[in-house]
Parts: sequence; structure tokens; C-alpha cells
Amino acid sequence: MQSINISTLQNWKNKKNKFAAITAYDFSFAKLFSNQGIPVILVGDSLGMTIQGHNSTIPVTVENIEYHTKAVRKGAPNVFLISDLPFMSYYQINQTLQNTSKIIQSGANMIKIEGGKYLINIIKELSNQSILVCGHIGLTPQHINYLSGYQVQGTTEKDANRIIEEALSLEDAGIKMLVLECIPSRLAKKITEKLSIPVIGIGAGNYTDGQILVMQDLLGITEGKQMKFVKNFLLNNGSIQNAIKTYISEVKNGIFPNEKYSF
Ligand code: KIV
Repeated sequence: MQSINISTLQNWKNKKNKFAAITAYDFSFAKLFSNQGIPVILVGDSLGMTIQGHNSTIPVTVENIEYHTKAVRKGAPNVFLISDLPFMSYYQINQTLQNTSKIIQSGANMIKIEGGKYLINIIKELSNQSILVCGHIGLTPQHINYLSGYQVQGTTEKDANRIIEEALSLEDAGIKMLVLECIPSRLAKKITEKLSIPVIGIGAGNYTDGQILVMQDLLGITEGKQMKFVKNFLLNNGSIQNAIKTYISEVKNGIFPNEKYSF
């Protein structure tokens, strides 16, 4: 696979070519996903739940993200690799720059941070240092205690307007990509149309430029209550390889997520 960079993703947005992304945390899965044609991998702090067995992403450390970023990069040298800055690792500029350096030096192309307008100064400073930043708004799992649970966001007009404003402010501050999590698809459509940067959705309907799923959800190995947007692609596809190929093709062709998997 040719190396994917931010210009590749921006061109896809401009040409309305939808793309699939997935989380990965280790060498073997990263290699397999990359070999099936996945262009974007996220080393998400979801690893706190999927790998470490915690009930939230809050315990994840910068060292954890560094470790998994290095492993994923070895398996997938050509994908566009995004890694999360974990909980409370980006509240002061110097601390953010130090933590970001470690993660970029581990192999990430871009870092992702969760939250709204209060991150503007941090985003500007990172952008001044030529760091690619991905925003993440809507449901932000690092704020789970404040949000009182994993619920759909932006369901009232007031909250929807707040999310739109946040998206615009983050783009203005310098983010080069945005993740929208668990918001109604009509709201995600508005934001995707208003922003010139690529917008990736999870539980945000099929109008976004890209989709992302947590690998364990996509492969149907997450036990317990499933969120509405989760589709088990392994169920009817026989092998992990075919499940990933089907996911990529359904996203490209706008088949996934349909109404059944959207809010
Ligand atoms: O940590 C993660 O896996 C994420 C995705 C849900 C987008 O942030």
C-alpha cells in the first residue's frame, strides 16, 4: 500500500471519496488490517477497556499509548496513524508538547484530543509546532463522569448548536481532522458539510467523510451491551480478512452505517 498522509485524506474529502478507519493496538492486527487496505488506524485510548479491561478510558497513560503506537506502526508502516492523548495529558501547553513528542516519536502521524473550545490554545500551539491534530467531539469518553454515561449527544437544538460551534472553532484553531461520536446523523451531516477538513464518524450516521469502529466491536468480540452503531462484520464473512474487506467496501459505498446503525 502507498503511504497515506493528511493530503491523501483531504483529497478524499474534497472528492467525496468515503474511507474506513479502525482502531488497533498491536502488531499482528495492524498488519492484517493494513494488508486488507485499511488506510487509517487509531491507537485509541479505548485500549483501556478493550485491552486492559477497565470500565472506562480514564486509567490509560501516555506510556500505554506510546507502547501500543510503536507496535501498531511496526505492523502497518504505510497507514495514516492517529494516536490518542489520554485523559488529562493535555491540560497545559508544556505538558501537552512533551506528551505529544513521545507519541509522535513512537510512530503516530497525528494526535487526537477530546473536547471543545477550551482546547483552542493547545491546538494553536500544537499547530505552530507542525503537529497534526484531530479533534473529537460529541460523546467524549474521557468525560464520562461529567456526562453521566455513554449517551447520544446533540439531541436538543441547544446542544446541537453547541456542537456545531465547537466543530467550527476547532477547525479555526487548526485541527486537520475531526471525530464525531454518537450524535444524530442529521447533525453530523451539517458539520461535515460546514467543515473543509475530513470528518470521521462513529455512531454519527453515514454522511461523514469517513467511519471508524473499535476493532473488537467490528469483530463481534465485545461482550455485554452493544451500542446501536456497532455492526459485527465477522458474523457473515467467514474470516477476519473478509470482515475487514467488507467493512471497507460498505463504508466506501455508503452502505454502512445505514439507519439501523444510526441515531
Ligand atoms: O479511543 C477510541 O477508540 C476512540 C474511537 C472510539 C474513535 O476514540
